[in-house]
Amino acid sequence: MVKIGIIGGSGVYGVFEPKETVKVHTPYGRPSAPVEIGEIEGVEVAFIPRHGKNHEFPPHEVPYRANIWALHELGVERVIGVTAVGSLREEYKPGDIVITDQFIDFTKKRDYTFYNGPRVAHVSMADPFCPEMRKIFYETAKELGFPVHEKGTYVCIEGPRFSTRAESFMFRQYAHIIGMTLVPEINLARELGMCYANIATVTDYDVWADKPVDAQEVLKVMAENNYKVQELLKKAIPRIPEERKCGCADVLKSMFV
Ligand code: ADE
Repeated sequence: MVKIGIIGGSGVYGVFEPKETVKVHTPYGRPSAPVEIGEIEGVEVAFIPRHGKNHEFPPHEVPYRANIWALHELGVERVIGVTAVGSLREEYKPGDIVITDQFIDFTKKRDYTFYNGPRVAHVSMADPFCPEMRKIFYETAKELGFPVHEKGTYVCIEGPRFSTRAESFMFRQYAHIIGMTLVPEINLARELGMCYANIATVTDYDVWADKPVDAQEVLKVMAENNYKVQELLKKAIPRIPEERKCGCADVLKSMFV
């Protein structure tokens, strides 16, 4: 069974050759694309391009529940979310990698849970990211000589628009990076007892820095960041232990009413 799942952009294709494509139907519809199974340095991984094969799903329309459900159905226990983010602080520079350790949810209308009743559950989110995977990604990125931040708070906005200057000033008081896709991907993974880690790559300074976000520029830095993500995945994935000692699955013991 494939134990590691990656949800990310098309940049991830550079690291693995899909050997098999699986069409998964879920109670929540179809995932963003058929799940691709392949190997990274001999380790089997499943991959879903979050925005679809042709980038047809904007952040607020990504079928997050179907994506997580499909990975779970295939046996995935650890999810790696790769995301592009803006920076809310001077020291988080375009081109940097952030191993996110907290988030603030400013999304507005997404499908946040698998438990809409009659079964009710409240999942613990105090420390939502897998400590085992975070440590491996941070140490490996350092070893590779990449600019990496061990921690960072990610504020997730609804999108698809970028923030106003006033919003950006508000967010930067509480968070380090800003993006549109972490929530509810992480919530849903945790509801199924899966580990979740986020590799965020900084593509731009958000508007607080007095430089309007330019979508073309974001795409250019993103392409450069893809190389770093690929190298990081290649070196870090073989280091992820098969047996989980992180306690992420323990949330299942305490979440049901
Ligand atoms: N993704 C990349 N840059 C971003 C920004 N500045 N705001 C929100 N999402 C982003």
